[in-house]
Amino acid sequence: MKRNIILHPDPRLKKTSAPVADLSDELRSLADDMLETMYHAPGIGLAAPQVGILQRLIVADCAKDDDAPPRPLVMFNPQVIASSDETNVYEEGCLSIPEQFADVTRPADVEVRWLDRDGKEQSEVFTGLWATCVQHEIDHLDGKLFIDYLKPLKRQMITRKMVKLKRELARA
Ligand code: NI
Repeated sequence: MKRNIILHPDPRLKKTSAPVADLSDELRSLADDMLETMYHAPGIGLAAPQVGILQRLIVADCAKDDDAPPRPLVMFNPQVIASSDETNVYEEGCLSIPEQFADVTRPADVEVRWLDRDGKEQSEVFTGLWATCVQHEIDHLDGKLFIDYLKPLKRQMITRKMVKLKRELARA
């Protein structure tokens, strides 16, 4: 089932999400819903707070840019355990901030540990777009948006546009 994506600005997007203690069927079905919502948008990543659930869960699939087969990743309690000194710049966007894009600098490679949908611990070193995407989504779990990396003026400009967009959507 597709879920509604919360748009910035919204206090729920600024909150810190709680660690997942037990992998219930309810949480697994939330993960499936999030993947469906992400693919439909379309997007390459989505975090639970973006659908109003303040739990540490993200989904991602960055495979489509490489002609690679789909790779839907479900990550409970994802944690960056090591980051490269080398950085990468990507033009980022966010399903909670539609049609706004900006360059963000982040570590180029990150090692991430998480629990998969079976509750099994996994870890992997992500590079390229995957690395950026996973860091962006984990940020959501700490109430951080990609625009928080921008200069205040640029951030305020995007937020003003979003306020206007939300007003228009509410009126429609
Ligand atoms: Ni986002």
